[in-house]
Amino acid sequence: MAYPSGRHFLQIPGPTNVPDRVLRGIDRLTIDHRGPEFASLGKEVLAGLRKVFRTSQPVVIFPASGTGAWEASLVNTLSPGDRVLMFETGHFAALWQEIARRHDLRPDFVPSDWRHGADPAAVEQKLRADPNHEIRAVCVVHNETSTGVTSRIPEIRAAIDRAKHPAPFLVDTISSLASIDYRHDEWKVDVTVAGSQKGLMLPPGLSFNALSAKALAASAQAKLRRSYWDWQPMLQANEGGFFPYTPATNLLYGLREALRMLEEEGLPNVFRRHARHGEATRRAVRAWGLEVNCADEREHSNSLTGIRMPDGHDADRLRAIILERFDMSLGQGLGKLKGRLFRIGHLGSFNDLTLCGVLAGVEMGLRLAGVPHRPGGVAAALDYLSLPDAAT
Ligand SMILES: Cc1ncc(COP(=O)(O)O)c(C=O)c1O
Repeated sequence: MAYPSGRHFLQIPGPTNVPDRVLRGIDRLTIDHRGPEFASLGKEVLAGLRKVFRTSQPVVIFPASGTGAWEASLVNTLSPGDRVLMFETGHFAALWQEIARRHDLRPDFVPSDWRHGADPAAVEQKLRADPNHEIRAVCVVHNETSTGVTSRIPEIRAAIDRAKHPAPFLVDTISSLASIDYRHDEWKVDVTVAGSQKGLMLPPGLSFNALSAKALAASAQAKLRRSYWDWQPMLQANEGGFFPYTPATNLLYGLREALRMLEEEGLPNVFRRHARHGEATRRAVRAWGLEVNCADEREHSNSLTGIRMPDGHDADRLRAIILERFDMSLGQGLGKLKGRLFRIGHLGSFNDLTLCGVLAGVEMGLRLAGVPHRPGGVAAALDYLSLPDAAT
């Protein structure tokens, strides 16, 4: 597109569109991160985050992308040689597993077809087969951003409990927090990993660990080397609203605004909005005669949809045409799904009419790229979105 006008449609599943209110929140003078004004900012965002994680326990903030928070979750709770149970739900689960390997952990990486979530029955079976409790952590990606599949965390929690296994439960919510229902305390998660650039509607650059008493006890024993990621100095400084090193002050201003927006809308409404957009998108895909990647009705992601390409058609070519003609970025297929799948992000700062524009761009792109499909996906979404509220 030689002269794009209007707003770019950033419909990858994160980073998401940053609302003007958050951009204006960030656009302030950077202040002394050891001064009194900072302390009140620090305290406000740390308290506000707890509500989003649904926890009364500490949440720590790293000036880092989500990968840093992944690493922090492992190095604070584990020791070299520890066995960890991980599930190959897709590309991001594979990357987390890679971090574990690089830290000399021994992942038991349960394979999958990248169309299903982590299987609660497999969790139970693996843990029952470990009577000496050598497995020191169970790690699950809640919403696998590479596939559009949401694992059933409460059922996995119940499976861990049925097996009476004490391993800490580590969950990656990088593309689900503040988009899909998630409850750190109620689901007895020990470390929740999250990032700023998706449901929290911020630019990339912050990531989070929500902790539990069990996670803190594990950190007192854990022997993996850690410095930057160490929870202890962070927790001590956070008591006064401060950080042990220079924080990303202006992103914290943005976080304060994003937390206020989520509070105003109300988390249940935020989840309902995402569920509605997930459903409308899936209806469009089915009307086109294309296939949603997620193979289990119970595991559809409400923050993104992975769409499989008909054989012989390249998803990256379709994405390139849509970018060139309509100035819209869609998510690519990652890892072994490269070229075979594209992803629509429908999370964060997003509404019905944005979704209509997104789906119209995809439908026109399918036509231009010569991808076999039926017309009518947009119409199917409009039908759904214009139902009376109670019916959606
Ligand atoms: C589920 C999930 N986990 C981890 C990551 C890695 O986060 P980052 O790219 O911010 O380091 C991502 C990134 O998209 C993700 O979607």
